[in-house]
Amino acid sequence: MAEADNTKQESRIFEPPASLVQQATISGMPAYQALCQEAERDYEGFWGRLANETLEWHKPFTKVLDESKAPFYQWFNDGELNVSYNCLDRNLKNGNADKAAILFEADGGEVTRVTYRDLYERVCRLANGLKSLGIKKGDRVVIYMPMSVEGIAAMQACARIGATHSVVFGGFSAKSLQERINDAGAVAVITADEQQRGGKQLPLKAIVDEAISLGGCESIRNVIVYRRTGGNIGFTEGRDLWLHELVANQPTDCEPEWVNAEHPLFILYTSGSTGKPKGVQHSSGGYLLWTALTMKWTFDIKPQDIFWCTADIGWVTGHSYITYGPLAVGATQIVFEGIPTYPNAGRFWDMIARHKATIFYTAPTAIRSLIKAADADANVHPSKYDLSSLRILGSVGEPINPEAWMWYYRNVGQERCPIVDTFWQTETGGHMITPLPGATPMVPGSCTLPLPGIMAAIVDETGHDLPNGQGGILVVKRPWPSMIRTIWNDPERFKKSYFPEEFGGKLYLAGDGAIRNKDTGYFTITGRIDDVLNVSGHRMGTMEIESALVAHPLVAEAAVVGKPDETTGEAICAFVVLKRARPSGDEAKQIAKELRDWVAKEIGPIAKPKELRFGDNLPKTRSGKIMRRLLRVLAKGEEITQDISTLENPAILDQLKQAQ
Ligand code: PRX
Repeated sequence: MAEADNTKQESRIFEPPASLVQQATISGMPAYQALCQEAERDYEGFWGRLANETLEWHKPFTKVLDESKAPFYQWFNDGELNVSYNCLDRNLKNGNADKAAILFEADGGEVTRVTYRDLYERVCRLANGLKSLGIKKGDRVVIYMPMSVEGIAAMQACARIGATHSVVFGGFSAKSLQERINDAGAVAVITADEQQRGGKQLPLKAIVDEAISLGGCESIRNVIVYRRTGGNIGFTEGRDLWLHELVANQPTDCEPEWVNAEHPLFILYTSGSTGKPKGVQHSSGGYLLWTALTMKWTFDIKPQDIFWCTADIGWVTGHSYITYGPLAVGATQIVFEGIPTYPNAGRFWDMIARHKATIFYTAPTAIRSLIKAADADANVHPSKYDLSSLRILGSVGEPINPEAWMWYYRNVGQERCPIVDTFWQTETGGHMITPLPGATPMVPGSCTLPLPGIMAAIVDETGHDLPNGQGGILVVKRPWPSMIRTIWNDPERFKKSYFPEEFGGKLYLAGDGAIRNKDTGYFTITGRIDDVLNVSGHRMGTMEIESALVAHPLVAEAAVVGKPDETTGEAICAFVVLKRARPSGDEAKQIAKELRDWVAKEIGPIAKPKELRFGDNLPKTRSGKIMRRLLRVLAKGEEITQDISTLENPAILDQLKQAQ
């Protein structure tokens, strides 16, 4: 460790261990710089070379990047491949048939070892089953599944037959599920009877039934149910089928459907600035290339590694670093059904020790909550477990504060393991800005430098470059293979959201602010610049939560802002005006509870406001615009020192100071 330059919050620099540098795929900064220079010199040649080396093409591409329909960029567009073939068949050919693809650990601790051959057969049988139902290339299939081998197999089976999947996180409500089924026009839902988490059974199939009963899901022909818990569920004759019955007599081979590189592999809904989630559409070729390549570059994956990404397949991290990336490079990975605190908060450390995990990738929120737990109970402190198998740690989804970084580095990585703080988004498909474990000197809290070929920069409101040391808007200057292709059903929104005219229509706008260190050029993400919150690494639109609140019969108006939270990064704080007099005391508490439960029902429990405050009105300008910047200050519990001359009703501020 050396004292060094002047990143605002942090000045410590941690060099990657020499032993890791020596054997790393990208070994040392000169190797990193050489790749960056190759991309600068010949952008298309660089990506073309990597696409040929990393993937197996059924029909080779002749053109790397087609910019003629920009910003609807196309990559490797006359090439053909199949994603599932690249993840499974290729491993059977390469001598990995008996290698473990997945070490599945159930909530209760039971472990199942699934080899590449097993997984191939499961995927083929399900793919044949889907085909037997008439599901074909281009159809959309919604997957609403628990963390399971079946969930991964369902995604891979869709990819095998060219169906576009849309995974909906198992924590979303019936209404959220219904909206996504409807927007995607899905022909089938693959789900489970229930999910098993933290010793509890939680419904899935019942929520699918409810979603369909809400209407607008007429495109659904079948609901396929994986029996996980054996819990009681309803069955609709002619529509519902058991997964085990569907696959029972299916052949264990299924010829892959060769698709164009641009064929939509999946749609994944994520929150934006409006009330309506965006269906982020990803490609087949470019997406798979980047998930595979970042497994090699960011995680330095090697044949003997045991990789563990703790994300859920319902989020992009689970797509890229569970279902696709690890399988595309023939890795062995741990897949975990449960939660980090069951049966106790030592579960992650215990699992690392038992499975001898070598690469561990999790979210800052999980780390922060495990720090708290370890402080409270020494028995679940990482030092109580044998973590000597670990060689690389990763962080994803939200900024990691330097204190959490240091704890992770010292206590989990034992000062031996580099931490890759990976900045990326649902829209980017894979990592964008991150340290490389065998090259980049690390600074706690900084995601350091863009990966080779990723032209990240910081600009001002007019799209002009800013010098290092000056905070601004994070953009990407050139298209890259795994980027979002469009918003499903809404190409105009795609253009407006990501390639706005104010920036000449050519810069990809990430939606985050960032600053580069004066001396090192390292990036630090300063947070979203739009109305998107990040709660426990889950992305949520303030408008979505506001729409849910105002849909309640009692609510006249609502404004939602984020406030800093020690564990979850940000917490949701809602300011609510009722149609009736402002409640107080017990009544206020009771209505606040009712509204929280309502939001859970409308969107999902992750969107429940942590804090709810009632007012006779909201702070507004004379033209009636809600002054959110004041609400943010109130939410933080700070005094308002800002200019309030445009505020029409200053008296309201006092009322809104108190939480219920
Ligand atoms: O604000 C950034 C934050 O998470 C947002 C993307 O969220 P989502 O699309 O749900 O994808 C999360 C998993 C990739 C970003 O716009 N974010 C993600 N990673 C980091 C981060 N903020 C700071 N540091 C990170 N490493």
